[in-house]
Amino acid sequence: MLKNDQLDQWDRENFFHPSTHLAQHARGESSSRIVTGASGVHIEDRDGTRLLDAFAGLYCVNVGYGRQEIAEAIAKQARELAYYHAYVGTGTEASITLAKMVLERAPKNMSKVYFGLGGSDANETNVKLVWYYNNILGRPQKKKIISRWRGYHGAGLMTGSLTGLELYHKKFDLPFPQVKHTLAPYYYRRDDRSMSEQQFSEHCAAELDRLIESEGPDTVAAFIGEPVLGTGGIVPPPAGYWAAIQKVLKKHDVLLIADEVVTGFGRLGSMFGSLHYDIEADIITIAKGLTSAYAPLSGSIVSKKFWTVLEKGTDENGAIGHGWTYSAHPIGAAAGVANLKLIDDLDLVKNARETGAYFNKAMKEALGGHAHVGEVRGEGLLNAVEFVEDKDDRKFFDPAKKIGYAVSGALLKRGVIGRAMPQGDILGFAPPLCLTRAEADEIIGKTKEAVAEVLG
Ligand SMILES: Cc1ncc(COP(=O)(O)O)c(C=O)c1O
Repeated sequence: MLKNDQLDQWDRENFFHPSTHLAQHARGESSSRIVTGASGVHIEDRDGTRLLDAFAGLYCVNVGYGRQEIAEAIAKQARELAYYHAYVGTGTEASITLAKMVLERAPKNMSKVYFGLGGSDANETNVKLVWYYNNILGRPQKKKIISRWRGYHGAGLMTGSLTGLELYHKKFDLPFPQVKHTLAPYYYRRDDRSMSEQQFSEHCAAELDRLIESEGPDTVAAFIGEPVLGTGGIVPPPAGYWAAIQKVLKKHDVLLIADEVVTGFGRLGSMFGSLHYDIEADIITIAKGLTSAYAPLSGSIVSKKFWTVLEKGTDENGAIGHGWTYSAHPIGAAAGVANLKLIDDLDLVKNARETGAYFNKAMKEALGGHAHVGEVRGEGLLNAVEFVEDKDDRKFFDPAKKIGYAVSGALLKRGVIGRAMPQGDILGFAPPLCLTRAEADEIIGKTKEAVAEVLG
């Protein structure tokens, strides 16, 4: 790409960026980067800076950058058939093949997959389907959805409501009243520090039970959760959490939506988080890893039990009143087929498991003993380092000090992208699943240096 010195100015004058301080960006006060190329685990900007992307974009480029197999599949699809819709039973070879490939990899109780574009719209679909389901079953009052504080499920109206982060609610008149939030399964931040992990899991389940009872079980339709909390801090569940939660949901006949936008297709070292933690979901949300972000595509995988009711619904009411122009877009589907094939061919789920185990252990060894590192945690190729002012008292830093951002900035200076997670002084890692041990060592070594620069 030619260097075009006006790009920066055009950017600030015309481009409304997501998740950005709009005023600072428009005034030219904040840093910006124009990315021009990428290969493997590295991205490159137009100033020639090469960075190791240890967050795989937004934990989505799972196979790594520059995969020609996927680029070719997209180009071939675009040449042969760039678009046709999927309404009234119409399909393409790519969308039909991808649906079959997804179901072959999904937990055995799953039945069909609906394709959307991104994680937010997939969860929007899920809530609509849950409401439809309970209407068909003659329970029109059973509609509330329970999510967790710190859960992330998107930024739409309903999905922004489900997201348990204040930033997504404040000044947007959210959350909607049909959405209730319960305790985050965040063991390190538990109120009662005398609790064991198992006790804390039972406590989270008891809190959920209490919430469902107080709302009225006949008004609660579904619970949504990420197998591992992502944007809320990269927090694997405490021991026994999913078993305890599922017991409560069964007791109250509440559906379970497993939001696997981050965990689907290998990130935890298993094909799905549901398989990793024995979660028997009614709906699974997929996006990011479905195409490794080579093209936008998401999906809602519904269980056999759920599908039976959807069929009954259309027998009674006609075609389902749901769909997007771009549902199952052939280019996204072609990218998905090539991507899932690549994940198998390169054995990336196994690499996520093995290199992930190495990465998490080595990060803990490198930083766990630091006076200002409260916890190093992770699962598969997800990892977080949480900083505290006082380790013994578990006293957190004043958020105004922005310690997490300072460490991610010091790391960036050393050529590695980690993500300062938005709630807490937490540095997150979610590198491409093709990460090598040498690359893992580089990330860890430079993180150690960055932490030393900021915190001594
Ligand atoms: C667990 C989870 N669900 C949903 C979403 C929303 O996906 P999208 O940004 O593609 O709308 C995200 C995005 O990070 C996510 O992490």
